[in-house]
Amino acid sequence: MPTLDWQPSDPDEAARRSIIAHTRAAGLSNLRSPLAIDATRQPWPVAKADAIVAINMIHIAAWEATTGLMAGAGATLPAGGILYLYGPFRKDGAHTAPSNAAFDDGLRMRNASWGVRDIEAVTAAADTHGLHLTERIPMPANNLSLIFRKLDRPSSNVGGASR
Ligand SMILES: C[S@@+](CC[C@H](N)C(=O)[O-])C[C@H]1O[C@@H](n2cnc3c(N)ncnc32)[C@H](O)[C@@H]1O
Repeated sequence: MPTLDWQPSDPDEAARRSIIAHTRAAGLSNLRSPLAIDATRQPWPVAKADAIVAINMIHIAAWEATTGLMAGAGATLPAGGILYLYGPFRKDGAHTAPSNAAFDDGLRMRNASWGVRDIEAVTAAADTHGLHLTERIPMPANNLSLIFRKLDRPSSNVGGASR
């Protein structure tokens, strides 16, 4: 996507070194130096972004990384801006495939605060910050792309209370 200016980030120093190495190897001029953004810590050191991409992050992090991601995206995106999430998700309180259930068990063994998230919980966390789920696209290996759009103003029926 050469017309886009990409700002990578990761709170982990080794991951940032990896991003720098990949950027050099790719030889692309539209990749900035990675920032040390921890999604749980507000405010983020980025004033504005037209879109935010988080791939395979929210299940390999504590739940607070999801709520922080939504808070940061809500504060950083303009109306109509996009938050893109990729990864495995549970639906209606259940895994969508046995392989995702086994993956979830492995994650929780590595770190009890990690785990495959429920779409409904992620969507509710997004709603709180004016981010509306607009597309849910099945991907290979039982993953999903979830596309959220920032609304002009926060949804009026958060928590089921509509006025
Ligand atoms: C499985 S890696 C995915 C990295 C990259 N998105 C990819 O697809 O190759 C998960 C990443 O989430 C990062 N992460 C964990 N907790 C985080 C947080 N609170 N805020 C931001 N990133 C976090 C980790 O440092 C790790 O690099």
